[in-house]
This record gives sequence, C-alpha cells and structure tokens, in this order.
Amino acid sequence: MPNMKTLGEFIVEKQNDFPHASGDLSSLLGSIKLAAKIVNREINKAGLVDITGAVGSENVQGEEQQKLDLYANDKFKAAMEARDQVCGVASEEEDEAVTFNKDLNRNAKYVILMDPLDGSSNIDVNVSVGTIFSIYRRVSPIGTTPTQEDFLQPGNQQVAAGYVIYGSSTMLVYTTGNGIHGFTYDPSLGVFCLSHESMQIPEDGQIYSINEGNYIRFPQGVKKYIKFCQEDVPADNRPYTSRYIGSLVSDFHRNLLKGGIYMYPSTAMYPNGKLRLLYECNPMAFLMEQAGGIASDGKNRILDIIPTELHQRVPFFVGSTNMVKQVESFIEEYPEQY
Ligand code: AHG
Ligand code: MN
Ligand code: MN
Repeated sequence: MPNMKTLGEFIVEKQNDFPHASGDLSSLLGSIKLAAKIVNREINKAGLVDITGAVGSENVQGEEQQKLDLYANDKFKAAMEARDQVCGVASEEEDEAVTFNKDLNRNAKYVILMDPLDGSSNIDVNVSVGTIFSIYRRVSPIGTTPTQEDFLQPGNQQVAAGYVIYGSSTMLVYTTGNGIHGFTYDPSLGVFCLSHESMQIPEDGQIYSINEGNYIRFPQGVKKYIKFCQEDVPADNRPYTSRYIGSLVSDFHRNLLKGGIYMYPSTAMYPNGKLRLLYECNPMAFLMEQAGGIASDGKNRILDIIPTELHQRVPFFVGSTNMVKQVESFIEEYPEQY
C-alpha cells in the first residue's frame, strides 16, 4: 500500500508540532501547491498549445523571456496575492519587487522570492523544468508596504524554501528548517502524496554537474577539480560521471537523491556566475543543508552572504559535503582566474 499522506495533511501535521503557529505559513504553502498544479497542467500540454517559445521580450537581466516564464510568474503571483499571507513578491521575471496593496496583504507577515520557471530553455524540447521559492518573515512593520530590506535578507533567515520539478513525474520538495520532504503529484487524484520523507544526500557522490562547454572560461581551481573528477582512480570511484541537464532544479534533484555536486562557477563571461542568489542559490542552499549537504560560492557559505541587490548573481557549488569541500580546497590552492 503506497503512503497516501497528502502534502496538505503533512503540512497540518507539522504545524501541530508548533502549538502557537498561526497557520499562515501552511496556508501559504497551500497557495504554492495550487499554482504548481496550474503550471504543471500547462507544461504537460506544452507541445499542443501555443505556449512554447519566446515572447520577444527580455527580463531585467537581459535574458530572453519564454511564454511559460511569464505564465508561471503570473500564476504564482496571483496565487500569492489571493491568499493574503504574503505582502510582496520578488521574482526573476520582475524588474522590481511587487508589493500587494490590499489591506489584508499589507497585514501579512511573509515575503516570497521566486524563480517561477527554472531551466526555461528546456521547455521547447520537453526536458524537465522547475519552480524555486524562498520565504522570509518581513522585517518592516506589519500593515505597511514592504520595503527593499524585506527582500534583501541573508539566506540564513529563510523560514521555508522549496522547488517543484516538472519531470517524468511532478514533485514538490520543501523545507521549513526541519528536514526536507518530497511529494509526488498524482494527476488522477490531483494531489501531492508524500513519497520522500526526510531526504539525506550521501556525504560522497560520484556525479558532477557543470556546463563543461565553458571549461576554457573557468577559474583555475575549478578546472583542476574537473580534472580530479576525471582521473582514473578506481579505489576512489573515479572517474566520476558527468550529468548536466541545464535546469538547476533537475540537476539538483538528481544529485540530492544519488549524491553529487552541481557547479556554476564564475566564468570569464559571467564574473559573478550566472545563478541568482535570492531566487536560486539561497533556497537551494537551505534545502541542501537540510539534506545534510553544503552550498558555497567557492569560499563562503551561501546562506551567510548579505545580499545587496535583488538580481544579484553568485558562483554556486552545491551538493555532497565532501565533494563541495574538495572543490573549495582546489579553489583555495589555485586562486588564479581564467
Ligand atoms: P532560468 O531558466 O531560470 O534562467 O535558469 C537557468 C539556469 C539554471 O537552471 C541552469 O542550470 C543554468 O541556468 C544553465 O545555464 P547554462 O546554459 O549557461 O549552462
Ligand atoms: Mn533559474
Ligand atoms: Mn527562470
């Protein structure tokens, strides 16, 4: 008999562990669940309806926006606004943070930051994509319009984070700082069912994930680490396997289950790396630490970085503890850039 505990039941059960919990966070996770189902429905028929391809516009970071980027952004934003637990949203697809002006929203205590559609270049070719979210308690007074400070908090202040992977099956994975749990979507029932409780990443892994086409533009330490991964040392299970899907959520999810490392270093083209601290790195770092792994910018813990701007980028190394430590030691030993 499969485990038939639903995401909704699980959230309520966990909330009961905190006798003074107001239920707002549970309700907020409920909004995310709903938006995820809507986006999932659209992605599943992406080849059939006019939803694939570019819109012809660029986001504030100069990246081409896909129709599904904007669709997912709108649906998640609308779900957040409808349920009054969120006073504002910052998104990879919005130039500025969006603040909600209804009184009920202004009285809400949470802000959410999101990458509504991660890996969007994969949509047109039917490869897994995802949604990433990160939730903070606001620091500005309740009842006012949220400010920049609410959104620019270090990752160690997150109260919850998670992702949805729209893959061969759709899953929602989240943490509220008490382990990381995965729920697989049963489309016939329309519910997410608990399938992966308290996931833990192996301390050592044998998979490395990086866009190796950029090798020539990587810092020396990263180049050395890649060569280390490729060495023939059977006693150490090397050479490792290289796997790179090109959507962080999917690469992260596989490495979480099997053990591995995902890397997006600084490159000659992207001196701060490509991934966004607030929408991608912080939530994934929180999840990874909850799974027993680590996340680093090559030198420092991701979750301790003080953000200075909304769309800030940062080099990212995340996964099995011993693998991330190994690449950090190469970066320290070979500090030269490209
Ligand atoms: P997004 O689609 O939200 O812009 O994110 C894409 C990110 C990440 O998901 C992926 O791992 C990485 O960009 C791929 O970048 P490269 O094509 O440079 O490897
Ligand atoms: Mn992304
Ligand atoms: Mn995106």
